Amino acid sequence: MKAEMIYRYGGPEELHYGDMPMPTLNHDDVMIKVLATSVNPVDYKVREGHDKWGHRKFPVILGWDVSGVIEQVGRDVKDFNVGDEVYARPDVSRNGTYAEYVAVRASEIALKPLKLDHLQSAVIPLAGLTAYQGLFTHGKLQEGQRVLINGASGGVGSFAVQLARWKGAFVIGAASGDNDGFVIELGADEFIDYKTEDVVAKLDNLDLVFDLIGGDQQRQLINILKPGGILVSTVGITDAPSAKAAGIKTVAYMAQSEPEDLKILAKLADEGTIKPYISSVFLLSDVNKAQELMEKGHVRGKIGIQI
Ligand SMILES: NC(=O)c1ccc[n+]([C@@H]2O[C@H](COP(=O)([O-])OP(=O)(O)OC[C@H]3O[C@@H](n4cnc5c(N)ncnc54)[C@H](OP(=O)(O)O)[C@@H]3O)[C@@H](O)[C@H]2O)c1
Repeated sequence: MKAEMIYRYGGPEELHYGDMPMPTLNHDDVMIKVLATSVNPVDYKVREGHDKWGHRKFPVILGWDVSGVIEQVGRDVKDFNVGDEVYARPDVSRNGTYAEYVAVRASEIALKPLKLDHLQSAVIPLAGLTAYQGLFTHGKLQEGQRVLINGASGGVGSFAVQLARWKGAFVIGAASGDNDGFVIELGADEFIDYKTEDVVAKLDNLDLVFDLIGGDQQRQLINILKPGGILVSTVGITDAPSAKAAGIKTVAYMAQSEPEDLKILAKLADEGTIKPYISSVFLLSDVNKAQELMEKGHVRGKIGIQI
């Protein structure tokens, strides 16, 4: 099969388009013919060698979003059949989806949204699950609460704004000024330009900060939460002792391939409650260009890859 693979860790030049053997199908796997995938920051982080999943056998196929059609099922698979149109965020420790086929555990997939095409569906799982679990599983966001989404214009942030809005929260999105209209259109009640505005001076008494950026900027965000508020981060907690002293609960987490959450996301997508925003589309053979763009850190919404 055709795939994009790396033979060692390094820059985007390490991505090579070529032939790979078909993935091995375990008894609890389905073989998905990949019709679309997407690019996420984890792809270039693993490519660079920031690979906490480790112990991979090169060549390695990156990419952990998929929408496609089941072509084969392992003998222990009961819930899916050949021909089912599914989407998933496959296990990041296994070979990924920059390929024509991927083997994925059946316990990690769900039927794709019916009303979306494969490209639109493929950009949802990783970013959508991360947003959903960050806000609701870890952040316990409720109707009427006030939440800041820091990094609101990117992959995770664009879903988080829509999901927090759906929940009935008061949503504040922070991104750079050019994304003002985009973030408001996604459903934010307020927009903050992190480049020109002082977030701490403008906001206080929040119930939840969903931070996708980390670093020193995150330390300041402790000050805008109410005592008992929650700071949830996709990138780690910068200053846990200060948060604890202020009575703030902190959570850093890794999104899980939870099929029940994928089903909810598919339903919300079919209803039109969440809409994937795809700012650019690349071919599989141009994944290196897609990753270069992503690494600049200012993609609006998602990048899709058409297989
Ligand atoms: N733990 C997990 O399971 C998990 C899962 C998914 C993602 N992540 C991590 O979460 C982070 C975000 O992922 P993503 O897919 O949303 O990335 P992304 O698509 O690159 O989005 C990041 C967004 O943040 C904005 N931004 C950049 N600098 C900022 C700053 N200083 N303050 C506020 N906003 C800023 C950018 O918007 P502007 O152009 O407007 O600046 C950009 O659109 C990445 O580090 C990723 O690795 C972790």
